[in-house]
Amino acid sequence: MKVLVVGGGGREHAILWKLKQSPRVSKLYCAPGNGGISDIAECVSLSALDIEGIVGFSLKEKIDMVVVAPDDPLAAGMVDALEEAGVRAFGPRKNAAELESSKVFAKKLMKKYNIPTASYEVFEDSETALDYVRTAKLPLVVKADGLALGKGVLICNTENEAADAVISIMEDRRFGDAGKRIVVEEFLEGPEVSVLAFTDGKTIIPMESSQDHKRACDNDEGPNTGGMGTFSPSRHYTGEIHDICMEKIFVPTINAMNNEGRPFKGVIFFGLILTEDGPKVLEYNARFGDPETQVVLPRLENDLLEVFEAVIDEKLDTIKLSWKNETAVCVVMASGGYPGNYEKGYEISGLDSVDEDIIVFHAGTKKENNKYFTNGGRVLGVTALAGNMEKAREKAYRAVSRICFRDAHYRKDIGIK
Ligand code: AMP
Ligand code: GLY
Repeated sequence: MKVLVVGGGGREHAILWKLKQSPRVSKLYCAPGNGGISDIAECVSLSALDIEGIVGFSLKEKIDMVVVAPDDPLAAGMVDALEEAGVRAFGPRKNAAELESSKVFAKKLMKKYNIPTASYEVFEDSETALDYVRTAKLPLVVKADGLALGKGVLICNTENEAADAVISIMEDRRFGDAGKRIVVEEFLEGPEVSVLAFTDGKTIIPMESSQDHKRACDNDEGPNTGGMGTFSPSRHYTGEIHDICMEKIFVPTINAMNNEGRPFKGVIFFGLILTEDGPKVLEYNARFGDPETQVVLPRLENDLLEVFEAVIDEKLDTIKLSWKNETAVCVVMASGGYPGNYEKGYEISGLDSVDEDIIVFHAGTKKENNKYFTNGGRVLGVTALAGNMEKAREKAYRAVSRICFRDAHYRKDIGIK
């Protein structure tokens, strides 16, 4: 089978790395891909947002399956367009992807179906929002409704911070039209866990849990990023908590989506917070997480192609997932300055010197004359597996210490919290 993966970051590299192990995959393509991806897939110079281009390419090359990985093409209806053209596609349709692309939609859904989440209010104009945040209990959380590269969430400890957040999102349009509406919600406390789950709209099968590190610097300091590192499994996500999540969150979510006439097929990412009152949903994503995928897929023993097919054909009930009983750690190496301004184009050295069982996923790289160069904020995700967390951490950091590029920045505390 010929498979095309849409996207070009570390998550897409991990999906392709896993698909490459399937005996039924004959050729892999990636649009647009990156330097590391070009070693295992043919990179096609099409933007991940170019729906017409991706549909045209898939028809021309007789692609058997297209995996749409990033949030924005899903929200824009790339899966709908592929299906209309008769191309098999993995990922939710536009009306189901709204679970991620509109926080207002997600919050209303959770309220209607009693799925535990932070209590909230929605505002469509800044004046009413400002009146509200001046009297609401602190701290509070202000969220842009739409997609904002994971940055549209502002935690406010004072009335002034909250007012500034409302003004910057709704009036200054810091996140563009994503800030037309906002959600203001209660601040919750507890450990955060990410659970990705396959669903065909009937059956839902969660993958092993993981934990992200969103802040740029050690001890959760510095600005929010796309994710500076992950590990799997989470030590907080016990069997007991899993059972509660299954009953109160995971199954009710797919039932709710069916009830709303928006059956969800693909991967739902549950961003959970384990509060004293039990697990609650912080956010949904309509896709694999980045860099969660870089620790979850290396632990999966199944053929990923078979799982994707079962989702598309609504036969997920025939699949049983099995997992390596190991801990995975992924340390992200980023460009100096990320998530703010950074330089690109620095040569990356030392990639050949890491141990054989280390998996280096490329996030923002390009390859020229057989050399790799930095080409994005997050550059590499270095993943190691071992029998326990300490060994996995040690292996991952040993590999990181051998890889060099100018101004490289990474957290030293992945896996400690
Ligand atoms: P989100 O994009 O909604 O997951 O938010 C990004 C991050 O903001 C989360 O991973 C949490 O760390 C934090 N966050 C979001 N909502 C809340 C909340 N209601 N209470 C506390 N922290 C939150
Ligand atoms: N790591 C969080 C995300 O993929 O949105």
